[in-house]
Amino acid sequence: MSEKRKIEAEVDFKDMLKNPHRLFGLFYIIVFMVILAGGIYYVKHLDQIAFNRGGYTVPDIDLSEFKKVERKKGGVKPAIDLSLLKQAGEEDIKKGKELFVRNCSACHGTEGKGDGPAGAALNPKPRDFTKLEGWKNGPDIVNLYKTLQEGVAGTGMTAYEFLPPTDRISIIHYIRTLADYPPVTDSDIKKLDEKYQLSKGIVEPSTVPLPIAMNKISDEEKSILKKKDDIVEKVINDNSGEALLLKKVAKNLDNVIYLFASHKLSGNFDDFLGKIAGDPVTYGFSSSVLRLSKGNLKALFDYLTKLAG
Ligand code: HEC
Repeated sequence: MSEKRKIEAEVDFKDMLKNPHRLFGLFYIIVFMVILAGGIYYVKHLDQIAFNRGGYTVPDIDLSEFKKVERKKGGVKPAIDLSLLKQAGEEDIKKGKELFVRNCSACHGTEGKGDGPAGAALNPKPRDFTKLEGWKNGPDIVNLYKTLQEGVAGTGMTAYEFLPPTDRISIIHYIRTLADYPPVTDSDIKKLDEKYQLSKGIVEPSTVPLPIAMNKISDEEKSILKKKDDIVEKVINDNSGEALLLKKVAKNLDNVIYLFASHKLSGNFDDFLGKIAGDPVTYGFSSSVLRLSKGNLKALFDYLTKLAG
């Protein structure tokens, strides 16, 4: 029995075609290599991938809800049953939660912890409703109502007086479930009623559909964008040490300058440091900015602040 065994070529394609099930082994290797290549690409491009998610871009808001708001003349709304203020029914809290998610969670976070995506770049930060310290107006029901009626001047918290008072009260009831809020007293109810005439019926302001309101916002936004373009132009033509430094560490110069032109990053150096240390790419910098000395970072900050005026 000296018959020699035939030694197979390492990969015998003809044989594989005759026995298709053997192709399976080859597929396995190809699939593995594709996954590996994808992984390498992902890791190498993490910066851009992360950048596309961050930045100052406006979060996706479902506009279809807003389009339902029609231009409406002001008028007197029916009176509110004041006893509702003291007792929050389950239905009311549920409605309040829905309204909260739709109107407030972009900034205050779905769980009210002040960590919504649109609040990330705001200063001051949106309130965390699970904590009761450090409030400007205050967490009692009179002040909660006041905040919704008037907003907090000079911050991202605008007035929500366009929401019907009953909806505002539902939202307040929901917020009050997130921590141990002060109880609603009779004197609170009296104060609220005197101030906002809830039991007499509420005078409603006219509402304007959102696209019109958006045009107003975008006028303001347009002037910031124009300012940003002017500053970018200046920086590009500037060969001072600070300008060169900036051009070196900015991954997206437009982004950095927009944030300064709109005063989202200017103002407080420590605040600036804290923000870029946590997530330089979101603020338009490459991660190399973190290797600069504190002195250089300060020079960079002062330069940008001066440009933003
Ligand atoms: C565009 C972002 C944004 C949205 C949307 C928003 N808020 Fe705020 N809110 C803020 C910011 C920022 C603050 C912090 C203001 C401050 O610290 O002075 C704040 C603060 C508050 C406070 C605390 C005020 C105080 O006494 O300190 C209340 C209450 C509040 N928001 C309720 C709401 C409710 C209810 C909604 C939805 C109807 C809402 N906010 C939607 C940004 C937002």
